[in-house]
Amino acid sequence: MSVPHRFAGRAIYVTGGGTGIGRATALRLDAEGGAIAVSDIDAALARDVAAEIVAAGGTAFSTSCDITDSAAVQASFADAVARLGKLDILVATAGGDWDEPAFEDIPDALWNAKLDVNLVGAARCIRAALPSLVAAGSGANVVAIGSINGNAAIGGYPYSAAKAGLESMIKNLAAQYGRSGVRFNLITPGTIRTRNWSGRDDDLARMAQRVPLGRAGEPADIAAAVSFLASPDAGWITGVNLPVEGGILVGTANPFTAD
Ligand SMILES: NC(=O)c1ccc[n+]([C@@H]2O[C@H](COP(=O)([O-])OP(=O)(O)OC[C@H]3O[C@@H](n4cnc5c(N)ncnc54)[C@H](O)[C@@H]3O)[C@@H](O)[C@H]2O)c1
Repeated sequence: MSVPHRFAGRAIYVTGGGTGIGRATALRLDAEGGAIAVSDIDAALARDVAAEIVAAGGTAFSTSCDITDSAAVQASFADAVARLGKLDILVATAGGDWDEPAFEDIPDALWNAKLDVNLVGAARCIRAALPSLVAAGSGANVVAIGSINGNAAIGGYPYSAAKAGLESMIKNLAAQYGRSGVRFNLITPGTIRTRNWSGRDDDLARMAQRVPLGRAGEPADIAAAVSFLASPDAGWITGVNLPVEGGILVGTANPFTAD
């Protein structure tokens, strides 16, 4: 596929870059000319993705941190800025784990753990990146990955609440930092075929029948949306929640829609 070179000269940090949506995003932004810090709690996965980019002639290195550990996040961003010389773009994909017991059976510890990864984790990364993004100025931006679970009542409590909270945080940051030249946007994916769905082909096929666009999403579908929002083509877009979900939500909104 021939892609534009919208990220030439841009330094980009991708959390959760070791697999799934984060990996696809790292590969896509590299293909468009960016220099990529591939970050993941799983150091081996991050190393593999960075090596794949370098082997293909791109610029990347790996860094590892747990986004629930503030000190580790700060150290990883400091390392990335030192190696890249600056930071223009943060893509915050790390998170997940939407399996939950019934509401009445969710203990405080599980609420805290899910919020810690899916909401506060992204906040920690944005906080660590912010001084560099403000210093970078024009073109600097953050794209965070939420979920359609944060857009509509389609199941889940701490995970969905964390993802809904991301939208509020992104909108407030967009309002506050627009004058500093930093944009903040959110992408809310529908069902995307990553390792979290492995062995569940029947579920994916059943779901695909109800999706207006007739299939589950692929990580590349999200990476394409990230590359648009992170690029200068979206230079006057900030504070948006862009659902990328094949029409799942519009498709289920009509109570007369046939099963
Ligand atoms: N796959 C889907 O159907 C789907 C749908 C909606 C939203 N999402 C969201 O998209 C994002 C990526 O999902 P995915 O399906 O690609 O997941 P994935 O499990 O394939 O990849 C997630 C990556 O994040 C890393 N990670 C997890 N916890 C971390 C932590 N504490 N610190 C640092 N890294 C950590 C993992 O090691 C992994 O490499 C998640 O935020 C998820 O909630 C996924």
